[in-house]
Amino acid sequence: MRIDGKVVLITGASEGIGAACAAEFARSGAKLSLTARSEEGLRRAAGSDGLVTVGDLTGEQTRRQVVERTVERFGAIDILINNAGVGFYLPSWRAPMELTRGLMELNFFALLGMTQLVVPHMRARRSGMIVNVSSIGGKMTLPWMTLYSASKYAVGSLTEGLRMELRRDGIKTMLVCPGYVKTGFQQHVTAGQAPETLVRTRRMAITAAECALAIRRGVERNARTIITPKPGWILVFLSRLFPAIVEARMAAMNETA
Ligand SMILES: NC(=O)c1ccc[n+]([C@@H]2O[C@H](COP(=O)([O-])OP(=O)(O)OC[C@H]3O[C@@H](n4cnc5c(N)ncnc54)[C@H](OP(=O)(O)O)[C@@H]3O)[C@@H](O)[C@H]2O)c1
Repeated sequence: MRIDGKVVLITGASEGIGAACAAEFARSGAKLSLTARSEEGLRRAAGSDGLVTVGDLTGEQTRRQVVERTVERFGAIDILINNAGVGFYLPSWRAPMELTRGLMELNFFALLGMTQLVVPHMRARRSGMIVNVSSIGGKMTLPWMTLYSASKYAVGSLTEGLRMELRRDGIKTMLVCPGYVKTGFQQHVTAGQAPETLVRTRRMAITAAECALAIRRGVERNARTIITPKPGWILVFLSRLFPAIVEARMAAMNETA
């Protein structure tokens, strides 16, 4: 899809990957509609022309407001980037239910809620693209973040299903699976901390700008899935071909927690 002149709605755009996407898509000529809880971050990312809607995306009112305001201002939504997300490092067998529901509420239900509000507008115009930010943890389960992985697997399945459901409506979907990206994500986890071995493997990390560039290029070529950085594909294939070996390695890494 061409980006120039398109209306792009980005969730979780006050910092990190979302804010970097705002900069990347604006450079390509997109009109921005951004949402998150921090007004200051959103204003910085939106520049002088972007639309800003402040609120907690787990609330239906915020979701309705951002979609209505975007359509009112720009008349359409061409690309929805469902990016807002959070994680925590706790074993699934003892993670508090309330914390887990909070994770699912943002990573899955808010994303689904935004999609349900935006799709009718896209169907009416028989065009659009929904970009769902998952994680490499949505392609291979990370034992130090099992429930985060579960939320991202759900996002992956939803993205595939939507693609098939909406094929005849001219609406595309793209799944984004980043590896480690240098953002505030680690500071924003709602509980626990990463195992030591994992901290050491973060040398492979990419910047939010690099991640946003991969997303923009993915949108332009109508990609189904992007894994960034690219060596992530190798990890995913290895986990499919040799699941027992990969699981044993990951379990060992997790045991240093
Ligand atoms: N960083 C990584 O290594 C990595 C790797 C794979 C996948 N991802 C995924 O990439 C996405 C973006 O992560 P990031 O690394 O950019 O994290 P980040 O720097 O923590 O940014 C998260 C964004 O989500 C917003 N947000 C959080 N809770 C919200 C809520 N309840 N309502 C509305 N907005 C909310 C935050 O804004 P406010 O605080 O202002 O609301 C912020 O703009 C997430 O889905 C994450 O799972 C990240």
